[in-house]
This record gives sequence, structure tokens and C-alpha cells, in this order.
Amino acid sequence: MGDLNSELFWAVHRDLPREGPGDTAATLRAFRMMPDLPPDPTILDVGCGPGAQTVTLAQASRGRLIAVDTHRLFLDDLVRRTKWAGVSQRVHPARMSMFNLGFSQGFDVVWSEGAIYIMGFEEGLRAWRAFLKPGGYAAVTEVSWLKPDPAPDAVAFWAEAYPKMASVEGNLSRVRRAGYRPIGHFTLPQSAWWGVYFTPMLARIAELRDAYRGNPEAQAILDEEAAETDLYRQHADDYGYVFYVMQME
Ligand SMILES: C[S@@+](CC[C@H](N)C(=O)[O-])C[C@H]1O[C@@H](n2cnc3c(N)ncnc32)[C@H](O)[C@@H]1O
Repeated sequence: MGDLNSELFWAVHRDLPREGPGDTAATLRAFRMMPDLPPDPTILDVGCGPGAQTVTLAQASRGRLIAVDTHRLFLDDLVRRTKWAGVSQRVHPARMSMFNLGFSQGFDVVWSEGAIYIMGFEEGLRAWRAFLKPGGYAAVTEVSWLKPDPAPDAVAFWAEAYPKMASVEGNLSRVRRAGYRPIGHFTLPQSAWWGVYFTPMLARIAELRDAYRGNPEAQAILDEEAAETDLYRQHADDYGYVFYVMQME
């Protein structure tokens, strides 16, 4: 990423409540779909970002969590949040890449909101099986086509941004191919995109547009940051984030 790109990326994304679509209700709903979890499950949260879902999971269980991300600023934020929430004793941040997680087969649950796309949905599910106890669970969110005939500008955007994006049925086939039994899935409501993600991000972009007035390069970068919100505003019925909950076969 170029210097200005990187500067503006962090200026937009610093201290946001979340780094992707999601909300507390969806995290809890997915967590409660997993039957027979021990009362103190071990949970690996991959691509945890600033830790909104990590705190929710720690509060919803008496479990121990390892929260993995590559970005130090997000992990610093997560540590602050776990302290405020009084769960820091049970949440261990780890600055590691999801491509090189050297854990053994010890987790009851692998969790990942808005981050498995970095490896690819099926690739991530296959790789993370190695960290699950027999019969362990995985819960991940993935941007998915909700309609067989999405709008051409949405297709064009995602062909560039995430060519492997699939339909819900396509992803359920990938779940099975990766060696899991699907337990359930649901689409995140539109409010989970706007409430704690797009709306605060757009407010930040508006402040930065003022701060960088007269700098066309900065304005173009900010236009790109805002593009995903414009597309979603127009085509929220065509694609969405879907929570997939599954158990290792
Ligand atoms: C869209 S954000 C989602 C963050 C968080 N789960 C949330 O919903 O707020 C994706 C996260 O993946 C992290 N990430 C990117 N590459 C990574 C990698 N190779 N290994 C681990 N995390 C990574 C980013 O730093 C970012 O925090």
C-alpha cells in the first residue's frame, strides 16, 4: 500500500467499533446454535480485529479465547476492550497470521467474522480443522450471493474484490467438502452493515474529506473507501454476509 493509501486506510479504520459487518445479536445467535459445548469452551477467534465479537464470546461463555490478528493496533484495541469488559484474564491476543497458525488440535470452536475470505472460505475451513478437537465447531461469516441474478455492477465489483464469492448453497457445499456438517446459517440483517460499521466509517470519511480538501489523490482514495457502502446501499438484496455454523465430521 502506498504511503497516502496506508495513512488514509488507518485514518478511516482506526478506533471503529467493528472492522466488518456484524453485531452482538448475530454473534450470540451463532454461538447458541452449537449444541453440547462445554461451559468453558476453548475458542480460537481468527482475524479478530478490534475484538467486538471476541468480547461478546467471552461474556457469553466462561471460556478461554485466543484472538489472532496481524495488526497490532487492532490487538491493542482488543486488549483495551477486554479490560473494560472485565474478561481480559480469559482472552489472549496473538499477533499471528492465519496462514501460519501453529496450534494443535485443542479448540472446541474456531470463530471468524469477516476474515475467512483472506484465505478463501473453503481453504480456511480446511486449514482450521487441524486446530479443532474431534466434533469441534466452526462459525464464520462470509459475504455471499443471496440471489441467482445479482445486478451487473455488484457482479463487476465483487469479481474484482473477491472473485471466489459464492452463493449460500455453494458455500454449504464447500462446508461439506471441507469435512464439516452444516448446523445452520443465517443472513446478517442490513443493520449489521450500517450500525457499527458503515455509518461510523462514513462519518470518518466525511471528516477526512474536509481535512484533505484540495488533495485530489486523497479524495480519490476516500472515494474508493466509500464505494462499497454505495454499492451495498443499492444492492443489499443481492448479496450479504451470511453466518455459517458447522461441526467437524
Ligand atoms: C474485515 S476485518 C474483521 C475484523 C473483526 N473480526 C470484525 O468483524 O470486526 C478482517 C481482519 O482480518 C485481519 N487480517 C488480515 N490479514 C490477516 C492474516 N493474514 N492473519 C490474521 N488476520 C488477518 C485484519 O487485520 C482485520 O482485523
